[in-house]
Amino acid sequence: MFPGSVLLPLLLSSLAVSGSLYVSHSVQHASRPLKTGGTASLTQCALWCRLTRGCIKWSRDSVTGLCRLWPLHSDSNPLTAAAEPLHQPLLPEGFVLSDDPSIAYRERYVPMVGGNASILASCRAYDPESVPAFPHTERQFNYLKTHITGYYYWIGIWYRPEEGVFADMTTGRTVDLPAELWWNGWVVASASYRCLTLYSAGPWAVGCGSVREGHTCQYSVPVGAAESPATN
Ligand SMILES: *[C@@H]1O[C@H](CO)[C@@H](O)[C@H](O)[C@H]1NC(C)=O
Repeated sequence: MFPGSVLLPLLLSSLAVSGSLYVSHSVQHASRPLKTGGTASLTQCALWCRLTRGCIKWSRDSVTGLCRLWPLHSDSNPLTAAAEPLHQPLLPEGFVLSDDPSIAYRERYVPMVGGNASILASCRAYDPESVPAFPHTERQFNYLKTHITGYYYWIGIWYRPEEGVFADMTTGRTVDLPAELWWNGWVVASASYRCLTLYSAGPWAVGCGSVREGHTCQYSVPVGAAESPATN
């Protein structure tokens, strides 16, 4: 399955370390590559990315065999407008797959004011497709309640007092948060306490302008992403 190569043992050990296989996925990416080089196989491009600090995804020109290593986007190297198929690990670095195999989370321990702009920017600094956590099923809530280690970390849900609903601050999608999810079955949210944090007993709404010690980001595993060992 793999080409005979002296790099193979190294590649296999790096696959084992990452605990994940590679996937091909259409994404927006930084405009300028971190490095371009070749001519290499896809396996070698993957390994090169793995060993290159700052590389999060890679691509390979099927005609020239040239690899491109892609960094995270930044102010000086913004995201492309269009999505293109790139290769990447199944999960961005540091994300842990939950008991729902389509969703991974990562907690970020950094004091931060609440609200959509700050949390979204912070999550996207992991991966362009990472967003503030939006648990919207009982299973997802229960997973987070039993696995988060930080107290009162921001999640990506806020209360919209005009309509009396809770919504994903990234997409606007509303979510029903039944009383039994909350501490002592007590739903507390208001116009001044509308940004949600989450801890082991349930969500807790605080002022969006206050500072919490961290927040939780979510990454949705690309639907139908064929797990593809990085072969030629
Ligand atoms: C934050 O939410 C406000 C109000 O819903 C919206 O106008 C703004 O564009 C959002 N900002 C970001 C970065 O999503």
